[in-house]
Amino acid sequence: MTEGANAKFQKRVFSGIQPSGGLTLGNYLGAIKRFVEMQDTGIETVYCVVDMHAITVWQDPEALRRQTRELAAGYFAAGLNPEKSILFNQSQVSAHAELGWVFNCVARMGWMNRMTQWKDKTAGKDAEKASLGLFAYPSLMAADILVYHATHVPVGEDQKQHVELTRDIAAKFNHDYGVDFFPITEPVIEGAATRVMSLRDGTKKMSKSDPSDMSRINLTDDADTIAKKIKKAKTDAEPMPDLPEMLAGRPEAKNLVSIYAALAGQTVEQVLADYAGQGFGSFKPKLADLAVETLAPISTEMGRLMQDPAEIDRILGLGADRADAIARPIMERTYEILGMVRSRH
Ligand code: AMP
Ligand code: TRP
Repeated sequence: MTEGANAKFQKRVFSGIQPSGGLTLGNYLGAIKRFVEMQDTGIETVYCVVDMHAITVWQDPEALRRQTRELAAGYFAAGLNPEKSILFNQSQVSAHAELGWVFNCVARMGWMNRMTQWKDKTAGKDAEKASLGLFAYPSLMAADILVYHATHVPVGEDQKQHVELTRDIAAKFNHDYGVDFFPITEPVIEGAATRVMSLRDGTKKMSKSDPSDMSRINLTDDADTIAKKIKKAKTDAEPMPDLPEMLAGRPEAKNLVSIYAALAGQTVEQVLADYAGQGFGSFKPKLADLAVETLAPISTEMGRLMQDPAEIDRILGLGADRADAIARPIMERTYEILGMVRSRH
């Protein structure tokens, strides 16, 4: 992790995932696995279930409640430890929404209009009917990060532009008010699988919202389902090449090799060194074994934790108290910088 312009800020990691559906292998490799690794680097780590982001599109309340607990269970089952990391859900710490509003007044409409996620989510649809919250989504995301003065944000490739916008918002705030108050946050996009693709179409991101369940591996899939999905994954007829460059133009092959590398903790080069010349008929069962070996214990543990939702809520509540203790003073200082009168007595 680089120091960048943030030498004066204590290093702090923040990231979040939306409870808008089940977790996928993309979330695991692109985000959660890396959250766990960063938890053991001695830097303070803050991880959030971003329920306020989820409601930018319609969420059935009962489903949202279940998915929030399921995502928290996924965090714990994958190895996030409430004694090492602060784990909580966003709506319990009101400073996120407060700073989100302030940033709505700092960010410009034009910046939001350029966000590719906004364009993708409204493509082919009537953008007039999208919620105002969906448009302002990146501004709330900037608030999530900056209300902790977070310096590093581990995310998948698809979130890079939002973290860059967070930097722009911090810089504009600092400039407009003549302060050096918010850090210029670094995105941390590392590993072999920062963009896991659909198993049915190597040009599309693996996503919890894809209508085809065969396109993704869910963290709750059982061993047989995982094996079946990998066996049926789209590939080509060529054997495995010797070098990573030779995977160019073979998106499905590249995806499976990258998934293998990320699961095994190897580089793509190492995987190719072992499998060059073999066909996908022999590679896929190996990949399936590796995926089952890694994911089955997580899925079993999630199931166990979900038996006791009150315990999940208790841990999230304790995390929210700790998060609030960091965010509140930063929010109060922000109000002061803005010129808001805050004394009540
Ligand atoms: P979301 O599910 O959109 O809230 O994403 C949560 C985190 O998972 C973000 O850091 C994303 O970048 C990451 N993520 C989601 N899908 C993928 C994917 N297919 N490949 C890699 N990372 C992903
Ligand atoms: N926008 C992120 C996603 O969909 C989720 C998110 C919300 C987030 N706030 C964040 C990620 C802050 C990192 C930091 O993937």
